Amino acid sequence: MKNICVVGTGYVGLVSGTGLADFGNNVVCVDINKEKIDMLLNGKIPIYEPGLKEVLDRNVQAGRLSFSTEVDKAIQAADVVFSAVGTPPGKGGEADLDAVWKVGETFAKNLNSYKIFVNKSTVPVGTGKKVYQLISEKKNNTVGFDVVSNPEFLREGSAVGDFLRPDRVVIGSSSAKAAEIMKDVYRPLYLRETPVVETNIETAELIKYASNAFLAVKITFINEIANLCDIVGGDVHIVAKAMGLDGRISPKFLHPGPGYGGSCFPKDTLALTQIFREHGISTKLVEAAVEVNENQKRLVVGKTKQLLPDLKDKTIAILGLSFKPNTDDTRESPAKTIIPILEDAGAHVQVFDPVAMEDFRRDFPKLDYRISPYHAAENAHAIVLLTEWNEFRDMNLEKLKNTMIEPNFIDTRNVYNKRIMNSHGFRYVGMGRSLID
Ligand code: UGA
Repeated sequence: MKNICVVGTGYVGLVSGTGLADFGNNVVCVDINKEKIDMLLNGKIPIYEPGLKEVLDRNVQAGRLSFSTEVDKAIQAADVVFSAVGTPPGKGGEADLDAVWKVGETFAKNLNSYKIFVNKSTVPVGTGKKVYQLISEKKNNTVGFDVVSNPEFLREGSAVGDFLRPDRVVIGSSSAKAAEIMKDVYRPLYLRETPVVETNIETAELIKYASNAFLAVKITFINEIANLCDIVGGDVHIVAKAMGLDGRISPKFLHPGPGYGGSCFPKDTLALTQIFREHGISTKLVEAAVEVNENQKRLVVGKTKQLLPDLKDKTIAILGLSFKPNTDDTRESPAKTIIPILEDAGAHVQVFDPVAMEDFRRDFPKLDYRISPYHAAENAHAIVLLTEWNEFRDMNLEKLKNTMIEPNFIDTRNVYNKRIMNSHGFRYVGMGRSLID
């Protein structure tokens, strides 16, 4: 078991640090944001991630997990330093790596014994090599080090389970010594025979982008099929189910919706198209997915107009602001595109989300925030359900309808079905099965 420093206490850093401690390592999670570290030291978690607090508390109590703003000290004491800092999109869609370079420099400055720099953040191919060069240039002694790419595959909302029971672990390194140490870091997973892919740094970096882009393309594909189903009278769920029965396709990530969002797919698809371009070739497929996904969000407004042709002075209830359930993250959520279009068309928007309203308020401070789905639907001419929170799955439909002026329901996640909604007096459109009873 190793002494580990995790730099960055966002979703990735905090979940990874907690998981690494749960594997038996001694972990210090560091951040330059004092407010976040103070919260953690007081037993509070700065993000909403189901199950995290329990595992975190357990490891803090066992003395394996601590939090600090003293980055230098934590790196000096570590065998392995994980960089889990943000890599937001830059102006041209490329990943902005300033924070990664900064961690590289701090690592170099504190290289008092052999250490491994592990990149957990999603970074373009070639970054590992550049970090290696940077550290070599900045360090002022002859102490050895290695750089490893160990991408994360954590889904927000189920990140703890994804870390503790991953489908695979990817270790990209050109050093046998570093690969051996990483095995020790992940020893419980080796014992459980989790598949471990050992490869070079470039391949590991690419695996992450290829995985996210592929999933984004898969979602986009089923969204297009859903749109066709709406025209020809097909049922997209049955299409997806039958497709998924083919083991080569798999049924996962074939659920239609208002377009993928979040901090990963939109950013990583754009960054991948940029990486292709930088190398003088193009990825028509991923570029198309980016474009189709943008249109998918707008299509939700089209569906609303199907039921309510003139939006001027109409009240629309939006249910769900996070990009998916079980997270308070609203980055690139479809709601952020759809709400302004509805408002521009003259509609008044009333919104409710069980967890994400605070996060949404940062970008949309003046919206009409409501305290329940029923409160959001009060005097509304239509409900647009954007996120499939459990709370929206078994709403009291009579109560909902009775509070509305017009019972129109646009269900972008196919939580309900047309027959049941019609029987409760709603006019209903879903995604890819609007003509199905
Ligand atoms: C995604 C990947 O699933 C993780 O493996 C990866 O580690 C992570 O990005 C990352 O790069 O850090 P995440 O963004 O948390 O995880 O969310 P997903 O569950 O993948 O969902 C992304 C979006 O796709 C959501 O807006 C969701 O509503 C949408 N989606 C997903 C669909 O519209 N249909 C589906 O069938 C599945």
